Amino acid sequence: MTVHFIGAGPGAPDLLTLRGRDLIAAAPVCLYAGSLVPAALLDHCPPGARIVNTAPLSLDQIIDEIVAAHAAGHDIARLHSGDLSIWSALGEQLRRLRAHDIPFSITPGVPAFAAAAATLEAELTLPGVAQSVVLTRTSGRASTMPSAETLPAFAATGATLAIHLSIHALDRVVTELTPAYGADCPVAIVWRASWPDERIVRATLATIVAAAADGPERTALILVGRVLTAEDFAESSLYALGYDRRFRPESATSPFAGTDA
Ligand SMILES: C[S@@+](CC[C@H](N)C(=O)[O-])C[C@H]1O[C@@H](n2cnc3c(N)ncnc32)[C@H](O)[C@@H]1O
Repeated sequence: MTVHFIGAGPGAPDLLTLRGRDLIAAAPVCLYAGSLVPAALLDHCPPGARIVNTAPLSLDQIIDEIVAAHAAGHDIARLHSGDLSIWSALGEQLRRLRAHDIPFSITPGVPAFAAAAATLEAELTLPGVAQSVVLTRTSGRASTMPSAETLPAFAATGATLAIHLSIHALDRVVTELTPAYGADCPVAIVWRASWPDERIVRATLATIVAAAADGPERTALILVGRVLTAEDFAESSLYALGYDRRFRPESATSPFAGTDA
């Protein structure tokens, strides 16, 4: 018996990996994390599967479900939105499973920030503009932030920011980012990226609060950075003519000539 943690993707049911789909189809128990996991994914469960929405459960109750399935010899498909590596409560569940000596596997999923970038038709790392993406959030009721992980500190680097779980604090986000990025810095908000009711607002730090005033206060990503509108960035060297590289040696004397791709 194994608990298969599966990244359920950002919302569109077909943004699920084939491995994730097959694991769901083979598991007689499915635990899924509330409204952010699309109901259509549950259609992959086998007939008669025990399907439990864990949104109203405590961690102890979730572990009780897992321990009971383990005792019955049942595999479990455990679905969390997006990918499991960020804000999924994976860490605390793994710690409990290790303590119970219950085996598990982890299957990654498409994270919301990647879905939002796709919606915006944007690359978040452009040569000479930004080469880092900071996946961050502001403090909330359930989680405080480590003291050094502040928006002004991240803003000082000029990196592209993908700010999660913070649409309710948009005013504060703008106030804290404007000194470093400037009021004209582009901002985009994507609500429910890849869902049928997906919505986008594009503005600047100066105008985003007004532009997003009638937007919902849930399930949104705030993306901030010059990459969102940059047009005059350099092309990457990787595809430039004359750039000697392993997959395209430029001459017989190249150190890469004759090497195996
Ligand atoms: C608990 S976190 C889960 C993140 C998830 N594990 C991931 O990989 O993206 C939930 C937050 O992610 C963001 N989010 C999740 N799905 C989203 C979507 N489809 N569109 C925009 N933001 C989304 C929102 O900021 C939301 O408040």
